[in-house]
Parts: sequence; C-alpha cells; structure tokens
Amino acid sequence: MIPSHTVDEIKNRIDLVEVVGDFVSLKRKGQNMWACCPFHNEKSPSFSVSPTKGFYKCFGCGKAGDAIDFVMEIEKLNYVESLKFLAKKYGIEVQEKELTDDQAQQQSERESLHILLNAAKEYFETTLWDTPEGRSIGLGYFKERKMTDAILKKFELGFVKDEWDGFYKHALKNGHTEEMLEKAGLLIVKENKKYDRFRGRIIFPIHNVSGRVVGFGARALKKDDKPKYINSPETAIYVKNQVLYGLFQAKQAIRMAENCFLVEGYTDVTSLHEVGIENVVASSGTSLTEGQIKLIQRFSPTITVLYDGDMAGIKASLRGIDMILAQGLNVKMVLLPEGEDPDSYSKALGAEAFTQYLEDKKEDFIHFKANLLAQEAEKDPIKKAESIKEIVSSIGVIPDAIKRSVYIKEAGDLLGIEEQVLIGELNKILRKNAKSSAYKKPEGVVVTEPKAVEQEVSWDLVEIIKYQEQESIRLLLEYAQVELDKETSLQTYLLNELEDVEFLSETHAVIFNKFREELAKGNTATIDYFIKNGSAEVRKTVIDIISKKRDVSSKWSDKYKIFIPNESDKLHLERTALTNILRLKQRVVRRMLEDNIERLKTAKNEDEQTEVQQIHAELKKTETEIAALLGNVILK
Ligand code: CTP
Ligand code: MN
Repeated sequence: MIPSHTVDEIKNRIDLVEVVGDFVSLKRKGQNMWACCPFHNEKSPSFSVSPTKGFYKCFGCGKAGDAIDFVMEIEKLNYVESLKFLAKKYGIEVQEKELTDDQAQQQSERESLHILLNAAKEYFETTLWDTPEGRSIGLGYFKERKMTDAILKKFELGFVKDEWDGFYKHALKNGHTEEMLEKAGLLIVKENKKYDRFRGRIIFPIHNVSGRVVGFGARALKKDDKPKYINSPETAIYVKNQVLYGLFQAKQAIRMAENCFLVEGYTDVTSLHEVGIENVVASSGTSLTEGQIKLIQRFSPTITVLYDGDMAGIKASLRGIDMILAQGLNVKMVLLPEGEDPDSYSKALGAEAFTQYLEDKKEDFIHFKANLLAQEAEKDPIKKAESIKEIVSSIGVIPDAIKRSVYIKEAGDLLGIEEQVLIGELNKILRKNAKSSAYKKPEGVVVTEPKAVEQEVSWDLVEIIKYQEQESIRLLLEYAQVELDKETSLQTYLLNELEDVEFLSETHAVIFNKFREELAKGNTATIDYFIKNGSAEVRKTVIDIISKKRDVSSKWSDKYKIFIPNESDKLHLERTALTNILRLKQRVVRRMLEDNIERLKTAKNEDEQTEVQQIHAELKKTETEIAALLGNVILK
C-alpha cells in the first residue's frame, strides 16, 4: 500500500502534458495540445489534452480522464501500479508498508519479471565495468568498434562472462527463484541441466517504451561464434511485435524531428546515436509488425527507412513497406552503398558527412519505387504492365485519398503513363482492398468519382440536434454568468428561450435541469459541480463538451453547415447564443416535419390527412421564420 501523503505528493507533482507527452507527440493548437490518439488508430489528431483543466479526451474513441487514468489505460496498470509508475517518473520515493507473505506472493508476475530483468541488466553492466574480464574483453570489444562510454551507459550495455551459471547463482543468492528465472527467459532448463541462456557475450538490454528492460539481445564476441545473436524469448512482459529496440532512447528526438529512422540492427541504432542522430529505432532484422508501426506512429507521422543491401534484397522488402503506408504513415527511403550498413557507413563518413548523406539521398518511398520500376520497365517493355500494377498497389493502400491522387499523378509522370490508366487500375485495387481484410479499408473515395463524396455526407438529424444541444450546454458551462444586458445573464436568456425544447439526450436534459434548478435558487451550476458530483455519463459529457475545440467544431461546420461565430466578445456571445437557439429550434422543427411526413404515409382517413397537412403548413411557416431570423443573425 502507498501511504496517503505519498499519494498526495505524486498527485501534486503530476504534469499531464509531461505524462502524456512521453507517449504521444503533442502539438499546441489554441489552449489545448493535440495528438493522434494512442488508444485507437487514426491519422489526424482528435486526441486533446487540456493543460489547465488537467484532463485528456479523445474525440475519436471517447477515452477521457486525468494523468492517472492515462497511465492505467496506456500501460495497462491498475491504480496503485500507475501511481508507482508516476512516482518513479518524478523521482518520488514510495516507502511501501511492509508486505505480508501473502501480499508478496500476490505481487504480480509481471512486476517480478521486471524486477528480475532489471537485476540481470545490472549484473551484466557491473560485469562489464567492474570486473577484470569485463574491462578487458567486454570494453575491449566495444572500444574496437569505436563505441564510446557515453553510449554504452545510455543504452545500458553489458557483458557476461563465458560460464554456465554465473547469473543463475547470483540471482538465487538475491532471492530470485528458479521458476522466475526460467519464465524470464534467463535460465535454460533441459532434462536435468540448468544453465544461463546468455554466456560469453555482449549484452544489449531491450527496453519498452517507458524504459523498463523487457529482454536482451546478446552478441557473440568472435566471428565464428554462432549464432551471432541470441535473444530473449517472448515472455509475459516481452511481446516482440510490440517492442522496438531504441524507441525509449529515441522517442523525444523522434517527436522533435517528426521523423523516425528505421534500421535493422542494435549496433546501427547505437552508431547513429554516436553521430548525433537520436531519432532511430531498429526492427531487429525482421519486417515491422502492425503493433510496431503503431508504436512509431504515436511519435511521428514519418518513417525513413535506411536500406542496406543489394537490389534483390531491396525488392524483396518493398512489400513490407506497404504495411507502413497502409497505417497512414509517410515513408521515405535512404539507400546505402552496397555492403554498408548504417553502423559501418556512419563510421566511414563521420557525423557531418553521414548526416548530409541522409539529407541528400532521402527520397519519398513511392518515388523510389516508381523510379526503380521505371528503370526495369525501360529495359523490358513487357514488365511495364506489371510495374503499373506494382506501384498502384502500393498507392492503393494509402488511407488518405488526397495523398493517393497526388501520388498517382507523380507515378504517371515517372513511368510515362497516362494518369487515367493509373486511376483505372487504382479503382480496381481499391474495390478489391475494400473487400479483403488484409488492409484497413481506405477511407474517402475513389479518385474519379467525386459524387460519391457527397453521398457519404448524411444528414442525420438526431445527431445534429444532439450536437446543437451540446453547443447550448457548452455556452452555459462556459458563459452562464456573462451579462448580455443589465437584466439578462446568458443562462437566463438561454434557459428561457429553450423552455419549450425537449432534449433528445437524457444526459443533456439532466444537465439543463440542473442549471434550471440552480438558477431558480439564484445560483449557477458549474463545471466543477458536474465533474465532482455528476454521474459517470454526466461527467463524461461535460468533459467532452468543455474540451471541445473550434477545430472539432469546424469539422461539424464543414459537414453539417453549422455556423459557429466568434465568441471573444459579448456581442458575439449574444449572437452565438441566439444563433444556437435558433439552430436548435430549426433542427427540432425539421425533425417534426420529417416525422409528420411519415405520418402522412400512414394516415388512415381524410381527417387525419388534413390534420397532417395543416401541421405541415404550420411547421413550414415556423421553419421559414427561423431561417429568416438566422439569416439576420448571420448577416449582421
Ligand atoms: N539478428 C538476430 N539474430 C541473428 C542475426 C541478427 O536476432 N542471428 C537481428 C539482431 O537484432 C541484429 C539484426 O538482426 O541487430 C541485424 O542483423 P545483422 O545486420 O547481422 O547484425 P548487426 O546488428 O549489424 O550487428 P553487427 O554490426 O554487430 O554485426
Ligand atoms: Mn552491423
């Protein structure tokens, strides 16, 4: 258990922007910070953080809460674990009350694995720096590869002597169990033999995104030691397709550069850091998984792949890139000279020339691929048709319709093919992709059929009315007490005007009624009140509404032509309130009209028909009046 004064200390120290900023790349827009949501897949930011209010909110998936909620959600921790996580981040010592045997046993297995792996990391580091063998063999090896002490420390690299059970004995002595050692992938148990997995090697600890060690890669010291690398197996805390080597050390730099370099090996990562390039992660020799791509996407919209290898190797790996494109990331490529990898080439050129090389050779992936295909097609005309299919299939996975059409144009130029031919091919592919589940269905529509865009916009009246209700609540929450004139505050005005409106959303009704109740007593309901005392639904709705930004509203204004005037001064505010009231009424009337028309279809007799027609005429009149008023407000 964490003592309550420590809980208070942690809560006081938490900075939401800092906490969230460790996981996603936040950009300031207006009062709030914005990012692509880490909890669901998206390509344009709808995840917002309000530094002043201390909560986050995603308009896409609806997740919302404070810093502790955020850590619980993203790290999949419980409340106490999240507090500990934050304590660690802020260097606050948590003196836990002594655990009973029972509680100690209950300590989660994951946590035990973390502790054990951390102990192993420290053992390997100590062996490297503080033993004669470590210094001569381990440090000797690193020196030979021109790796500086600073980098060794930064990546917490280590060394393990060539003995069967060095770490095994050390761990048992420190109270770890054989069972956990095996579960952590550190001990191999075979028949009646037990021995350390890692022996006589250089150790690369692998960190998760929050910096905790989850596994190791161990490199052989000599050329003929096989295999070159021995890696930790998957464990409860090491899910390989969710981890990228170097991401923890790179994430700040990736965010700053808005770009992430992708290399293959551990030493490629460390060497790039040596030359001052810190926004780099390694795929560890395999192609990226969807989970890994999403991980990068939290920090950057662009991946730049550093390719070493021959043409055959490059061609083979092109397919893997489509997956990155399909996730909505921009992909760039840098081709290294044959026989060089980022490690060797950065050392060969030195910091400045290598950085320049990356800058000069950086090429958009689609261009790169189109050029490659164009070269081939030139030599072999039969290949041309194949090339078209090839390039268009890459373009087809890109979720953004605008990007797709730009690429189609450029690919047409590069390959010397009519744009229309490529568009035809693209449409075929889009239709096929939409059916198969291999790729996320590209949103938006086929390039040549602009009409379809319009069809997509549906006028869901219920949705619009609810939105307009929300806007009224937002005005109340933010400006209830603003005096529109001597006698009228905004809440008096708005609540009076909306007296006859029945709210579609029950939660909205609850909030309105609270305002009415308080106003009757001469008080005002506040944001604070709702957040502290409201039901879960009310809380969520209020957070939703007050964290709303014009950005989000503008989506609405584009989609539904809702007009939201500037609220910065009183005149505007009054106009906003009036507009909003009118809009809400307009939509309510529209809905009544639609319902009424439905009634006409089922009217049983002439009387009923006449009644329906009368109502229709009345409603039409009201609608026209409101429209006229609205016209005035907007034109003023
Ligand atoms: N790899 C592995 N097991 C192997 C070989 C490679 O897991 N037997 C992974 C490692 O993550 C390695 C990456 O694939 O870092 C790239 O392999 P390679 O280029 O062969 O190694 P480098 O990282 O370049 O290592 P070094 O520079 O020390 O040769
Ligand atoms: Mn290498």
